[in-house]
Amino acid sequence: MINKTQIEEKLVQVIYPGFKKNIMDFDFVKEISISADKISLELDIPSSAPTIEQKLRIEIQKRLSFLGNYEIEVNIKKPKLPRETSSHGKNVLPTVHNFVMVSSGKGGVGKSTTTVNIAIALAQQGKRVGLLDADIYGPNIPRMMGIEDQQPIFLGKTIKPIMAHDIKVMSIGSLVERGASLIWKGAMVTQAIEQLLEDIEWGDLDVLLFDMPPGTGDAQLALAQSLPVTAGICVTTPQKVALDDTVRSMDMFTQLHIPIAGIVENMSGFICPETGKEYNIFGKGTTQPLADAYSTEILGEIPIEPAIREGGDNGLPITVLAPECETSKRYQEISKKLWQSILKVNEEGGVSNDKIQPSVF
Ligand SMILES: Nc1ncnc2c1ncn2[C@@H]1O[C@H](COP(=O)(O)OP(=O)(O)O)[C@@H](O)[C@H]1O
Ligand SMILES: [Mg+2]
Repeated sequence: MINKTQIEEKLVQVIYPGFKKNIMDFDFVKEISISADKISLELDIPSSAPTIEQKLRIEIQKRLSFLGNYEIEVNIKKPKLPRETSSHGKNVLPTVHNFVMVSSGKGGVGKSTTTVNIAIALAQQGKRVGLLDADIYGPNIPRMMGIEDQQPIFLGKTIKPIMAHDIKVMSIGSLVERGASLIWKGAMVTQAIEQLLEDIEWGDLDVLLFDMPPGTGDAQLALAQSLPVTAGICVTTPQKVALDDTVRSMDMFTQLHIPIAGIVENMSGFICPETGKEYNIFGKGTTQPLADAYSTEILGEIPIEPAIREGGDNGLPITVLAPECETSKRYQEISKKLWQSILKVNEEGGVSNDKIQPSVF
């Protein structure tokens, strides 16, 4: 039978990923036990990144396999995933851990609807969620969240967001006179966004989502310069004519150094409630090549469904009204994928907005 020293001699050949030292010198191997046909190891490592764990397992298996035909059991103790974002650069909202920018090339594709339902799904999954309606030209989050008649509360210089469906909500539209923002131009947009960001009392949040104005303009730039945006989501529809707009949106994320979490294809087919038959009204298959081109994924496909529009009009989003229906489940899936993507960005060191050039647009 082999002895402990033989195992240790193999383990000194396992270099800790990203470093020059091996796992023995780092003192990460806490226990080695040997039985007739099995080698068991206990490791305690300082990284929570799944990729590190995976690399270690592969390397350990490989090295120990030289000792003969033993079953190899490796238990790896890791720190809990960090709650704090590891992002750096300017962040005017340090109590908010992650920021998600939802964009679309043009209006009417369902950007607000998608943002609202993703936000609610994340809250239903136990996250502390905020939602800022930054669409100064067409703020419709208050109606969709059923808080149209509620006025935000001013506390001295700060403003308290309104709670709706377990989410902290604020709309720039509800802070300015109706219609006033329609004449806003570049610098005013930037100023309004920066000021409002700091004046709203968000408190501790796992994630704050931004429903952006359509297009790729001043609001997006202002936001990306004030906050390290952790993830960008692009909402599109499957028509071929929507492609150009989507490309612009994706290019914008790239230029603003915002990691792209993926694309949501909205109005992706219609399932007839009577027959259950699916009709691809706006075509199909246009989004996948785009996702491939930007090395990202389709986070989900949301069909055209009357309940989605009704929910939006009545302040009861479908994820609240019918959390068990197929469409709500799809929003849940999208939110889970988004969260995975946020975790990955943070594990890999977070984002920085240091490098954004004001001249990109
Ligand atoms: N998947 C869908 N099925 C049915 N109606 C939808 C769907 N997505 C959006 N809508 C409706 O389409 C209209 C535009 O959506 P909205 O989210 O306001 O778009 P945007 O924010 O991109 O301008 C709204 O009336 C909304 O309720
Ligand atoms: Mg909208």
